[in-house]
Amino acid sequence: MLLTVDGLRVSYHTDEGIVRAVDGVTFSLDRRETLAVVGESGSGKSTLALSVMGLLPKTARVEGSIRFLDRELTTMREEELRRLRGDRMTIVFQEPMTALNPVFTIGRFMRDIYLTHREGSEEEALSLAREWLSKVKVPGPDKVLNSYPHELSGGMRQRVLIASSLMLEPDLVIMDEPTSALDVSVQAQILRLIAELKSQVEASFIFITHNLGVAAAVGDRVAVMYAGRMVEVASKEEIFSDPMHPYTKGLLRAVPKVSGGEVEPIPGSVPSLVNPPSGCRFHPRCPLADERCSEEEPELRKVRPGHWVACHKVSG
Ligand SMILES: Nc1ncnc2c1ncn2[C@@H]1O[C@H](COP(=O)(O)OP(=O)(O)OP(=O)(O)O)[C@@H](O)[C@H]1O
Ligand SMILES: [Mg+2]
Repeated sequence: MLLTVDGLRVSYHTDEGIVRAVDGVTFSLDRRETLAVVGESGSGKSTLALSVMGLLPKTARVEGSIRFLDRELTTMREEELRRLRGDRMTIVFQEPMTALNPVFTIGRFMRDIYLTHREGSEEEALSLAREWLSKVKVPGPDKVLNSYPHELSGGMRQRVLIASSLMLEPDLVIMDEPTSALDVSVQAQILRLIAELKSQVEASFIFITHNLGVAAAVGDRVAVMYAGRMVEVASKEEIFSDPMHPYTKGLLRAVPKVSGGEVEPIPGSVPSLVNPPSGCRFHPRCPLADERCSEEEPELRKVRPGHWVACHKVSG
């Protein structure tokens, strides 16, 4: 296994109380595998991503284990983490502008990534940067290397960041809503690019999105998160053909269909993570909930090979 997350809990200590943003998450990721993590806003997706990258704010408390390349990340020294980050594991965020330094050219930005982690010359750095800009289909890579971030469109900036995240051939790439800040037509282009790149590189991906349709388009497996917990994990085929958790079924009904037809949003909203509902956190919104659901927290359990569900109402 490349990555094994076991019993991960992350809480933020705030004036309003303790926010239990991730509350008992367990999963693993194989080499060359893509796990899509899907859930509504506030379900803990970014917190999960930041914990793996070791980028949580100081106010966060982490329990449980994150093993990457056979090393425990939760207790690793910052200096060692920094060596892994940007090299063996990288992250692409939603808003490409904030990840780039406005006063540096793209060439300088990409060169710095290379020289931070490799012993090589400036020429080697720039030639690798040029090569990767071509791989992500940036037209005129030389011109882009000499451009400043504000001179590029949002889609181009995101391509630059994708190139930067892959340039050193990392083992793990996390993408946190990489297309959500882009125009719909550009989103589709970037998703196509990511799907193509997946087959060309050795990396494993964690792809975060709130859109189940997007999750299935890029993921080999899909993990559905609700209020800080994973409620269903299955292959993308099974998530569509045989969704089991009432929340996953709700998300599916909320995906716009090419054929048209009604989109049904799930009634209600993600609960507060300061004081989450007792028992199954989805029970206040669940059409199937009974007394047990409001009292007893369901564990994520295997109902068939490769298909895991946390729901009292699912048999098997
Ligand atoms: N730095 C922080 N301090 C306090 N609370 C935080 C912090 N970051 C996130 N939270 C809270 O933790 C919970 C999970 O947030 P997180 O950003 O991980 O969710 P998300 O699934 O990524 O949401 P989105 O789809 O909106 O990006 C939310 O209740 C959020 O308000
Ligand atoms: Mg997020």
